[in-house]
Amino acid sequence: MLLSTKNILSTKELSKQDIQQILDTADSFKEISTRAIKKVPTLRGKTIINLFFEPSTRTRTSFEIAGKRLSADVINISGSTSSTVKGENLIDTARNLEAMNPDILVVRHQCSGAPALLSQFVDSPVINAGDGSHEHPSQALLDLLTIRSRKGKLEGLKIAIVGDISHSRVARSNIKAMQTMGMKVRVVGPPPLIPPDIESLGVEVSHNLTEALKDVDVVMVLRIQLERQNQGLLSSLREYSNYFCLTSESLAKARDDILIIHPGPVNRGVEIALDVMESPRSLILNQVTSGVAIRMALFYLLLGENNANPN
Ligand code: CP
Repeated sequence: MLLSTKNILSTKELSKQDIQQILDTADSFKEISTRAIKKVPTLRGKTIINLFFEPSTRTRTSFEIAGKRLSADVINISGSTSSTVKGENLIDTARNLEAMNPDILVVRHQCSGAPALLSQFVDSPVINAGDGSHEHPSQALLDLLTIRSRKGKLEGLKIAIVGDISHSRVARSNIKAMQTMGMKVRVVGPPPLIPPDIESLGVEVSHNLTEALKDVDVVMVLRIQLERQNQGLLSSLREYSNYFCLTSESLAKARDDILIIHPGPVNRGVEIALDVMESPRSLILNQVTSGVAIRMALFYLLLGENNANPN
């Protein structure tokens, strides 16, 4: 069965059935990454273009690895080495790339809505690999896969998402995807970092980290975006850390089996303490492993089951 959407631009567009199918497909692909020869011929002859206008370690690398493990040809283009620096606009760039007949475009851009705009001008499916503070749908999917792999289910689980909710594309994509899968979401942070109307999304709000962690199955810690600290939203990083850094003390009232996730990159000691990050409850590197399987599943499902040969 194919996905109900041609592009992956936002988790809002994904039904429960879509998400279920992506997670199940990703589960079936995990084993390929553990083989001595980590390659299957599933997407041989397909071309994937990764177009990244913002820095990335995890997302860009895992999209590239995912494509290569499925035998697709993967081309990486960064904004700084593309002809956009000579004045070409994003749409012309995409249309010129499309003229070379790729099968999928993966796009990260600093402007919210850029991948959606671009998808209107090209025939190939477009995957949003993170756009401004809008969405990062493949991150939400890999977070769900990581949680489901450990808990065995998603329905009925409760998560606290801690940090700069206002600027977080990861939070935005996760809130919708988690609600679609029957999870309860609580957001936690200082008032300047929580959108005033967030409760209209059906989430709980807390400004007290220790209390907010008492009854949750999972805590997701968000990166404090140091590049935004000149906006005056926080009086100081030290003050933020005093109240909202995930530490052994803030976890004191949490369940013993609480899972800890973080999309990365991590500011060690700012939003999460070193010992907590390295603890057995932390699944931060499991998330990165899940990212390869999720991106393999997205390529496979977007290019159609006719290309299927998972062996
Ligand atoms: N989680 C995430 O998007 O990390 P990168 O910025 O390294 O891709």
